[in-house]
Amino acid sequence: MKIKLRKQVIDILKVLKEKKSEYIASELAKELDIDYIVLMSAINDLKENDLGGFKEKEVFQISLNKEGELYLNKGLPERQLLEILLNDDLTEKNMEDLQKATNLDKKLFYIGISNIKKNGWGVESKAPGEHKLLLIKEEFPQTAMELFLKKFEKSDKIDYSDLPEDDLIQFNILNKRKLLKKTRKTQRNLFLTEKGKKIKLNEIEMLKQVSKITPEMLSSGAWKDYDLKPFDVTKPGPLLKAGKIHPMVNLINEIREIFISLGFTEIRGPIIESAFFNFDALFQPQDHPARELHDTFYLNNPKISKLPEKDRVKAVKETHENGGTSGSLGWGYKWEESIAKKTLLRTHTTATTIRRLAQYYKNNEIPPIKVFSIDRVFRNEKVDKSHLAEFTQIEGIVVGERVTLCDLIGVIKEFYKKMGFEKVVTRPGFFPYTEPSMEISVYYDKLGEWLEMGGSGIFRPEVTYPWGIENPTRVLAWGLGLERLAMLKFGREDIRDLYINPIKWLRQESY
Ligand code: PHE
Repeated sequence: MKIKLRKQVIDILKVLKEKKSEYIASELAKELDIDYIVLMSAINDLKENDLGGFKEKEVFQISLNKEGELYLNKGLPERQLLEILLNDDLTEKNMEDLQKATNLDKKLFYIGISNIKKNGWGVESKAPGEHKLLLIKEEFPQTAMELFLKKFEKSDKIDYSDLPEDDLIQFNILNKRKLLKKTRKTQRNLFLTEKGKKIKLNEIEMLKQVSKITPEMLSSGAWKDYDLKPFDVTKPGPLLKAGKIHPMVNLINEIREIFISLGFTEIRGPIIESAFFNFDALFQPQDHPARELHDTFYLNNPKISKLPEKDRVKAVKETHENGGTSGSLGWGYKWEESIAKKTLLRTHTTATTIRRLAQYYKNNEIPPIKVFSIDRVFRNEKVDKSHLAEFTQIEGIVVGERVTLCDLIGVIKEFYKKMGFEKVVTRPGFFPYTEPSMEISVYYDKLGEWLEMGGSGIFRPEVTYPWGIENPTRVLAWGLGLERLAMLKFGREDIRDLYINPIKWLRQESY
């Protein structure tokens, strides 16, 4: 079948045929005064017809830095010093005077003197009471270094691989004098295949095809004679740098969808919480170390929080003092309401799930109840590669009759599986409010480690009885780290990376 090409492609083929060696794509585009993308699209047409293509090559280029450019314009320090003498027709000059006559700073002045000597142009003469520079030549032709520098007059970038051996020596000297910049770029070299080299232009049929219809074509009616080039929908489009949703928000939405698909409802609670819901209702004794200032941010304003109904406060108080109705002996100390009224930034969203249990009691609800929350918590903690002082927990509870630890493991494993992580382990753990308790870890391939994700367990009777939840109805609970999961999801090794917002990462992870 006869090969059909657009006129522009035939023109480019002609140029490539005339030049026997390879062509650098960016140079050809400049030479033909066409867009680089237009050229590469034409090359793509040649490739599809097995006539040509391109090879990518990494090239190193060198150019002058600021100081180098200054010398290109004004001359190297040695040349500048020499000019001072030559302009005044001198063959010698006192060093001190020479230094005064130049704009060079002290360091460059001595570099200049040292090179004058190296070039064999002059010597330093030191006699008692005098210190001079003495020229010992009559002609001072351009040195190899100066000739090399001149190359940057024509093009500000030179391919390193094209340098002849002599220039390499000069390159090394200039490089040592820190006058150069080195850059790396990918170059595309265009070539013709054997078929492309052999084919005669008159064997090719001109395709009356355009990629764009212009206003001129419309007004002259010429558009009727052309076909439109079809789009190749398999080719990647240009990167869209539009506003997008932050990767962490996308992740939160993904987690939401998973819990909702499992039949959960989302709940939210206040960030400013009472010690009552954050600690007391969780059967954490009032002298528990986690309540200390170094773990918890207490607030001065508002300083005192409102507690729930008096009888519920009393139920919690009695549980701490003697076990209340829960069957436990309690902690056996005198519970203080004032400590429970303290205001703090919640240290975990388990406070929010307890609020849900309070509502359950108030509304006389019946199980099952399945709720989750994804929300911010605060801890007075030292920030490092795996800890933040402000982070997000994925919290949830299932209130159900005769639910078991197996159900809990099932929900947690199912959640991580839906997130794409199958390697999940549960280990015995301890929390003051659950029995049994489990720690959850997920395997992180990139680090070859198990990453601790959070805790879980079955709420103790001391936690559930004050809210009317009694055996055989039980509450399965968990609190998992969102940022730890994000590390796995986005392949980060440092948790802080997630909130630094490097633009490159945002572009790549957002959608
Ligand atoms: N609140 C615990 C934490 O912040 C996690 C947890 C939630 C543990 C629910 C057990 C039950 O680490």
